[in-house]
Amino acid sequence: MTRQVLLLSGPNLDRLGTRSPEIYGSATLAEHVARANVVAAAHDLEVRHLQSNFEGDLIEAVRDATDCVAIVINAGALTHTSWALADALAAFEGVVVEVHLSNPAAREPFRHLSTLAGVADGSIAGFGGLSYELALEAVARLVADGEPSPPAA
Ligand code: DQA
Repeated sequence: MTRQVLLLSGPNLDRLGTRSPEIYGSATLAEHVARANVVAAAHDLEVRHLQSNFEGDLIEAVRDATDCVAIVINAGALTHTSWALADALAAFEGVVVEVHLSNPAAREPFRHLSTLAGVADGSIAGFGGLSYELALEAVARLVADGEPSPPAA
């Protein structure tokens, strides 16, 4: 059976394409999801995508993802504020990859904190349209290798 990956998009990402294209590029969210799907399919993974502007929707989607091997999440600005979303992700048993189009570490100070980074297996940020593809590649490698673990020192 094809393994499922939940791809979550948080607030305002539905406006990609027109929202600050100098920061986020001109691709729409649908285009990013399509690129993620291509990478997923090459690894026998299937992407299920949900975008919501509401924190509770994202939390419930994480809690309902019991059939998924991984969650890839771009939580938008909730990345910097939502301990509740971090708690939900901490309880998820599969792989968690945090993804951003821009590089929050190189932007305003309020974007430097990620509540999600500590509960994710890893984070991919700053590669624009490539970020989603790299995130799916990371998932494919991690689920193929079994239990995700940090590289040996
Ligand atoms: C973002 C970065 C966040 O700081 C911002 O609030 C977003 C998009 C990114 O993909 O670069 O909405 O997650």
